[in-house]
Amino acid sequence: MDTVAQAREIIHDASHVHFFTGAGMSADSGLDTFRDARTGLWEKVNPQDMASVEAWQRDPEPMWAWYLWRARLARRAVPHAGHEAIAKHSGKVTVTTQNIDDLHERAGSGEVAHLHGSLFAFRCSSCHTPYSREIELPESPTPRLAPPECEKCSGLIRPGVVWFGESLPQDQWEKAEEYMSAADAVVIVGTSGSVWPAAGLPTIAHRAKIPIIEVSPQRTDLSDLATVHITNKAVYSLPEILFP
Ligand code: APR
Ligand code: ZN
Repeated sequence: MDTVAQAREIIHDASHVHFFTGAGMSADSGLDTFRDARTGLWEKVNPQDMASVEAWQRDPEPMWAWYLWRARLARRAVPHAGHEAIAKHSGKVTVTTQNIDDLHERAGSGEVAHLHGSLFAFRCSSCHTPYSREIELPESPTPRLAPPECEKCSGLIRPGVVWFGESLPQDQWEKAEEYMSAADAVVIVGTSGSVWPAAGLPTIAHRAKIPIIEVSPQRTDLSDLATVHITNKAVYSLPEILFP
């Protein structure tokens, strides 16, 4: 039986399917991975310099400009047939994503845990109060933009994204652990499985003998956990193995 048929059988028998997604899931909507998103203005920049508290404290304006530009690109991107297939799949569906865009939600997925935060969540970098005012996104890449100030304490507003060295949001982590152990099938899509602690989550399902399907064009650090590996892109394979 070919891998798609095997995957369809696993999905058909599952009443709760959990999806664990990474940058490869957004790639088919034209959003580059973190490492590729540093093109043009930010080509020479070391990721640590654009995603760490030290860099923010040293000079917040280039980081603020970069995250707002990535938010603009994410807004311009459109959920693809893979996002739609997940959102429309019959039965219970939950998602844990390492991505900071909102493509899963815009496709209609309701239960989404964001391990690394979101480009569209902003909070005060001092008192952590969520910032609810509208933030205007740049129409083109800009080298520097001044972040607004918190209305409560005048601290600088920062992106609600997890930076290097920061811990993951506890509530999202617990949601992801719960999904991984409650599901009766797990589909890993578009993640290299190289960034911890997120990469450790599928082991929960593997230990519980929950069948794991992996969809990615090449093998990854998680491929050994997979019951079935489909060597293809998310946009093609997900509609093939899921049921409306
Ligand atoms: N469909 C499915 N998988 C794809 C596709 C596609 N169209 N294109 C690429 N991939 C796969 C790649 O083969 C790779 O295994 O997606 C994976 C992307 O891996 P990474 O770029 O390492 O992204 P990710 O695993 O999500 O990185 C985790 O690291 O960059 C930081 O915080 C950032 O959340 C990110 C984390
Ligand atoms: Zn504040």
